[in-house]
Order: sequence, then C-alpha cells, then structure tokens
Amino acid sequence: SHITWDAAAAEKGGYEHFMIKEIHEQPKAIRDTMTSRIALGEDVKLDNIEITKEDLEKINKVYIVACGTAYYAGVVGKYVIEKMAKISVETDVASEFRYRDPLIDENTLMIVVSQSGETADTLAALRLAKKSGARVMVITNVVGSTMAREADDVFYTWAGPEIAVASTKAYVTQMVALDILALHLARLKGTITKEEGEEFKKELLALPEKVEDALKHKEVIQKFASKNYHVKDMFFLGRGVDHAVALEGALKLKELSYIHAEAYAGGELKHGPIALIEDGTPVVVVATQEKIFDKMVSNIKEVTTRGAKVLAFATEGHEEIEKSVNSALYVQKTHPLLTPVVSIVPLQLFSYYMALEKGCDVDKPRNLAKSVTVE
Ligand code: G6P
Repeated sequence: SHITWDAAAAEKGGYEHFMIKEIHEQPKAIRDTMTSRIALGEDVKLDNIEITKEDLEKINKVYIVACGTAYYAGVVGKYVIEKMAKISVETDVASEFRYRDPLIDENTLMIVVSQSGETADTLAALRLAKKSGARVMVITNVVGSTMAREADDVFYTWAGPEIAVASTKAYVTQMVALDILALHLARLKGTITKEEGEEFKKELLALPEKVEDALKHKEVIQKFASKNYHVKDMFFLGRGVDHAVALEGALKLKELSYIHAEAYAGGELKHGPIALIEDGTPVVVVATQEKIFDKMVSNIKEVTTRGAKVLAFATEGHEEIEKSVNSALYVQKTHPLLTPVVSIVPLQLFSYYMALEKGCDVDKPRNLAKSVTVE
C-alpha cells in the first residue's frame, strides 16, 4: 500500500521547519548538556576534560577561537571565563587567528568551539595551537569529529543533530558549555567560593525553564516581524554580554532574511552608526544588564530622538523601558553572565519570522553551508 503521511513533516516532528523545531528543542538541549556534569552540592564532572589544578596554575592566557555563530558563543565565553576564573581571554575568529602569528606557548589554553568539529579554519587554528605547545580544548556537538579526535580535552554539547543551516540549539549549548567550563576552572583555581559556585549552578540549572518561557513571545514577535519585514537595514545594540547577543541576533537576521543588520556596542553608537539612524530605522536593543541598564536607556533616547523604531529586550522588572520604546519584551531574570542563553531566544524567533514573511528558505538560506570544510 501507499505511504500516505508526509515523511518530511514527520522528520520535523510536526514543525514547519527544522529551524523552529530546533529552537523549541533548546530547553532539552541545555538540560542534556548540563545533566551528569553539574549537580548541587557536587563538584563539576567533566569526563573528557583532564586539565588539573597544577596545569591550570601555569596558564596565563586563554584563546577562544571559532567561526560564525560558534565565534559569538566565544564572545560570551570571554566575559564568563575572565569574570569567574580571572584569566585573560581573547576571542578571535579562526580565519584571522591562524594567519596573524598569535602568541602561543605551553602556558596558553586554547578553546576551539565548533558545532561540526570539522570547520577548516577552526581546525587549522587548533593544529597551529597544538604545534606551538598550547593545551587544546574543543567544545563540539559531534562525537568523534576531527577536532574531538585531535584536542587534548573534549566537551561535548548534547544538542543532538542540528539540521537547519543557521545554528540555534548548538549555539545555546556552546554558551552553556563555556559557562560550565568557566565554573570548573574557577573552582580549580579557587577564584570563586564554593557558595558562589553553588549559586551559579542553581542559575544554570534553572535555564531550561527560562528558555522555555522565552518561547512564549512568539506571537508578539511575529506581529513585529509582519510590520517590519520590508526594511532594508536594522541595528542591534547591547553592552557587555548583551553586545555579544546583539552580534548573534544580527547574524541570524542576515543569514535568514537577507536584511542588512549591524550590531554595535552601545557606547560606540556615537562613533559612527548614529549617522545612519533616520526616521523609521528599526533598532533592536538588548538591555538585560542591571549595571548598565541606564546607559542603554540613554542609547535608546539617542536613537528615538532621530526617529528610530525600537524593539527592546529587557529582564522582567524593568517595565519602565516601555516609556522610551515602541515595543518591549521581557525575559526572566538570571545570573548576569547567563542572560545570553535566554535573551537570544526571542532574537532567533525574530529572524525566523522575518524570513518567513519574506518567503525565504529558512532551513537552507542562499549561499550558506552548514559546515565549511574548505578554506
Ligand atoms: C557555517 C554555518 C554556521 C556556523 C559556522 C561554524 O558558517 O553556516 O551556522 O556557525 O559554519 O560552524 P561550526 O560547525 O564550526 O560551529
């Protein structure tokens, strides 16, 4: 007899596209990446990471190197590792890192981040670091990938297979991996107390629910997208880890909807991009950081005065932002270093709906490949 169901739809678990399916799988992906590694009252357990307290004592420099979305996970990782483990971290794109004669020696810890574990430039950077004597760690989603085989230490993100070309669930698990790694390094080095470690773990363990909650904004975002999908340019602003989120949000919009999007650190607005703000320019503002919230409000004023239409993402409890913007969305509060994991979710949804409105192929955007294994 005939197969009457749609095999493709079945593969997508009832979702219209892999991307939206994978966006919804994020709470589980994060949970799976944390399970067996962190538990309250216990030390971090990392199976394939063997770096010891003694090894760590001589490390005076950390590089995080990656491409694309994985690079933006690394931009967040810099903030987290520096703050928690008090080691200076530099994040770089692999194609720059490998050709700039980076300063690497046996006191360097190199962390490469790659969903596939096969990206050509990232692999070349890994090999360069190894040859120069660095200890090399990889955060990857693919068991037995080339990078996993060649690195000294391996941290698997348990995101499951990611089919959509634009990365979503792999990205959030990369950030969670860097968070857990930062916690581990900080405890080994003694740069945070046991209590601080417990507090951080508690916040990590609460992330899946907060990510789940962030998915509820679908309708508001869809509406905003339906009113704005015809625009040519957009700006994304943030400070600190929110800047990293803005960068990834802008990348997602470019990849999926082919809209020119630029992300800027809030403080840089005056140094150029403000010249481009005119009547009706849409600006997405990520403002989850308590310490610099007022600075973001000043940035909002700077752009709205010039006619920008602002969509702001803030944490619950900061509803006063509504007075200064056109639309606002709130995500649940978490540790200030962990907000990217939650606040990226509405931005992913935003790029998804913008692409749908424009009729773009969301799972296979033009000109892009899932894994870039040629240079
Ligand atoms: C390609 C993909 C991106 C991905 C990047 C890095 O450009 O389209 O989604 O972020 O490669 O891939 P990797 O497998 O190294 O994380």
